[in-house]
Amino acid sequence: MKAVKISEKVYWVGAIDWNLSDFHGYSTQRGSTYNAYLILSDKPTLIDTVKAPFYNEMMERISDIIDPKKIEILISNHSEMDHSGGIPQFIKDANPKEVYASPMGEKALKNHFGEMDIKTVKTGDSIDIGGDKLSFIESKMLHWPDSMISHLEKENILFTNDIFGMHLASDKRFDDETAAWMYEAEKYYANIVLPYSDIVLRFLDAFAKTNITPKIIAPDHGPIWRDNPMKIVSLYKKWAEQKPTNKAVIIYDTMWKSTESLALQIADGLASGGTTVRVMNATRYNRSDIAIEILDAGAIVLGSPVINNGLYPAMGDILTYLKGLKKKNLIGSTFGSYGWGKNGTADLERFFDELKIERVADGLYCNYVPTKEDLKNAFDMGVNIAKKLKEKTQ
Ligand code: FEO
Repeated sequence: MKAVKISEKVYWVGAIDWNLSDFHGYSTQRGSTYNAYLILSDKPTLIDTVKAPFYNEMMERISDIIDPKKIEILISNHSEMDHSGGIPQFIKDANPKEVYASPMGEKALKNHFGEMDIKTVKTGDSIDIGGDKLSFIESKMLHWPDSMISHLEKENILFTNDIFGMHLASDKRFDDETAAWMYEAEKYYANIVLPYSDIVLRFLDAFAKTNITPKIIAPDHGPIWRDNPMKIVSLYKKWAEQKPTNKAVIIYDTMWKSTESLALQIADGLASGGTTVRVMNATRYNRSDIAIEILDAGAIVLGSPVINNGLYPAMGDILTYLKGLKKKNLIGSTFGSYGWGKNGTADLERFFDELKIERVADGLYCNYVPTKEDLKNAFDMGVNIAKKLKEKTQ
């Protein structure tokens, strides 16, 4: 296993998880990487480790460059176990003189792995690593309380842990070597970072005041940004602002095609009003693929049949997931088919209340099979949502 040189003194020594297909319910069909970085300063330094089962892969890559026992400093930018899982074994094997984390990182590492000798660093602190300096910026709740960013001053590399990363296994290490980054970076934002968008905006403002314009941004997952690295920073600003576009996502499930008939009429109505439409069956699509479509949408239309006095199971799943992602600035409506009681549709309505989604029309619920009038009403619902969306996005 070879290390990959990313600058004069810095090497990627992480691991490639080709077969990761699920990360906390987020479908990662293209696998992931756990990026760790070796700095060959006078006091050799390791930034983060890897998920525990990949520890040997990381150690092989380190050993390609240096005897791991010569590493004097370990930095933990993030305590989640896909990056900290290798820390206990690394401390046993390499015995670094100093281990650094944020104050919340110290607490989290001890909670995960027991007593450890950890020095804490806060925003504005820096440490001498021999011939270069690492300075630190806490990035609390991006996306854990302990998250921290490290800046290697002379080489001007920003190590950003999860932020600016993506789940993408590849034999390529840099953004300019793969075309897949755009979709996967956006999917990562939609599924991991979106709930913290207000914090992202505050963080980006604070970061702009540091006057750091990094030459390289090195996250803990996916490609390393070396081709105009500030482009991912700009994209984060855009995604965090959540400005609605003229796009609607219809998410539904169906039992005997009644709810689907309504969904297709609503889609036609939306399209006739000039709105870009995505129609997504909740059983057919993974929740994380729906999340990325929601990220830039201006409208959401939710439909479910009633089963056992509640929502269809896949709709319950997607609503639970989307509720946590807290997408803002949506308008829309709800629809569905019921048999002998429509109480189950209350969960759709509750979702709209909880996410403060503006209702363009009352929920459209038909008894068993939609009549011609129901179908016309569904089409009109689409037209009305398109009209409102156009007004909001012009
Ligand atoms: Fe990649 Fe929050 O761990």
